[in-house]
Amino acid sequence: MHLEHIGIAVTDTSATLDLYERLLGARAYKRERVESEGVLTTFLDAGGPRLELLEATRADSPIARHLAARGEGLHHLAFEVPDVDAAHARLAAAGFRLLNPAPKRGADDKRIFFIHPKDTNGVLIELCGTSPLPLDPDMAPAGNERVAFYDGGNPQAPALVLLHGAMGSVELEMRPLLAALEPHFRTIAVDLAGHGRSSDFAEADPIPLELFRDNVLTVMDHLGVGTAHVFGFSLGAAVGLLLAHSQRARVARLAVLGANVQWTEDEARAMIAAINPAAVAERPRWAARFAETHGEPRWRVLASRVMRFTERLPQHHFPDDALSRIDTPTLVAHGDRDRFFRLEHALHLQRTLPDARLAVLPNQDHPLHHLDAPLFARMLRSHLLR
Ligand code: CO
Repeated sequence: MHLEHIGIAVTDTSATLDLYERLLGARAYKRERVESEGVLTTFLDAGGPRLELLEATRADSPIARHLAARGEGLHHLAFEVPDVDAAHARLAAAGFRLLNPAPKRGADDKRIFFIHPKDTNGVLIELCGTSPLPLDPDMAPAGNERVAFYDGGNPQAPALVLLHGAMGSVELEMRPLLAALEPHFRTIAVDLAGHGRSSDFAEADPIPLELFRDNVLTVMDHLGVGTAHVFGFSLGAAVGLLLAHSQRARVARLAVLGANVQWTEDEARAMIAAINPAAVAERPRWAARFAETHGEPRWRVLASRVMRFTERLPQHHFPDDALSRIDTPTLVAHGDRDRFFRLEHALHLQRTLPDARLAVLPNQDHPLHHLDAPLFARMLRSHLLR
């Protein structure tokens, strides 16, 4: 639980933005109209908790009534909790008067509810949690197929392309990291072929790594983004390295996590065993997550394709002489508890790339859902924004 943001009621968002820019150099990074509430919200990065400016969009909205009764000023404190439904149930049972019968959709993809200020010293308190509602992708056409992507964050900030791992998706793996990066980057997260909301590209089987790279170029071209920073996890890391190798001018700086582009037969065998649909079916939580993000039975088809892709990897090394020509400034990050890839791969990658630095994440296993997203986002910022 932590103080997530401070809400401020304003009559003129642009004038207030101008004020905070003069005061602190703080810039708006996200603006959102929540029609159901009649409010225009604008988030400002204020170093710690964010500031949420609230302007009424119609005269009968709650924020318009607040402004009429009390004028501009502090409106609410918002605390983020890990489970907003559980918090709602607990506080209702404890006798707090809640202003919402259930958590509702708020700004910034959060689910929120408010507590009556009479029960909290006259301070309006919002509790919020990350929404389990699915993200809503945009689509970039690629022939008859489509590449799903999520263009968010701060449109004025440098572009950062984010690439998930095999059997992953933006929805499944990237949400906490996106939330931590959105104030600082224009985030462009891509679902790779066959994954998440992108289409199947069924003719490509086994899927060549080049197809995933082309998915990224399709999205960048579609958005008119010439050059971007790239972060890739696992499979996405290999895609990022290939992109930097073949399209040097498109990648400003690169960061990879859990990368391996020189697979051994043993590593391929372990990965294949982990994604074999029969084995996954015995781990119901993973089966449910795959079904949720890729569809049922689509995830089983994808798993078979990824198995065939993985079988070929020990024969398809990214050779050292190719790596040694990737002069893109690169952060090579690796978990010291990675169950699939030994740290030696990261060390070798960092020593072979001509301009790379190394980050070893303590207690970090391979899957991204173990990641300390705010901490890793700070590392990405310090590498990418220099
Ligand atoms: Co709020």
